[in-house]
Amino acid sequence: MNPDFAHLTQYAKSFASLTPEDEILLKEMADRMLPHLQAVTDDFYGQLTAIPETQVFLEGRVEILKQTHVGWVKSLFTADLDEQFTEQQYKVGLVHVKVELPTEFMSGGMTLINSRLIQLVFELYGDEPEYTEKALKAINAVTGFSLLIMQQSYQEASLLEELERFLKITGMSRVLFDNLAAAYKTD
Ligand code: HEM
Repeated sequence: MNPDFAHLTQYAKSFASLTPEDEILLKEMADRMLPHLQAVTDDFYGQLTAIPETQVFLEGRVEILKQTHVGWVKSLFTADLDEQFTEQQYKVGLVHVKVELPTEFMSGGMTLINSRLIQLVFELYGDEPEYTEKALKAINAVTGFSLLIMQQSYQEASLLEELERFLKITGMSRVLFDNLAAAYKTD
């Protein structure tokens, strides 16, 4: 897999409707948001552990996971949302594929994170309705941006894993598979 991160950045930004104005706003919000993001992560894991299906992935590692997770939440407000950021999100997606996390855990997880961030924005900016509206739009865009990239890597890595399993079961070489695939015409 050798993704074109420049293209993926633009592709994900279009779907997420992440604009340069959003990117400026997110960085502007960093000072006020950052002190509260540990609580966002703590609540996220609190909610996850209440879902029985997540237990097997979280048992004994919640404190470690919180450390990398809070770094990720902070990056939404501090990082340049460029190709390098896209590459990082892609790799985070791959880490989840490796532990065989069910696909819906990603969108479900992002929904939980978004709900908590929305609550925080109202707490911090609730008396400034126009700012609140712009802040919520920017947060929705950046979390959607990250999710789309993670799902992209998820999809590609899962297909590759399936293919590797198929090759192992059948004993077919990758070269033979590629030649057959190239020769196969559906029309
Ligand atoms: C969509 C929201 C999520 C985000 C943004 C997120 C973020 C992260 C990050 C940044 C890492 C570290 C990646 C690295 O090592 O480079 C990670 C690892 C991990 N996450 Fe998530 N995560 C999400 C959802 C979940 C959910 C819902 C679960 C399970 C219920 C989960 C379980 C794990 C596990 C088990 C690892 C460690 C894998 C390993 O290194 O063995 N994540 N996550």
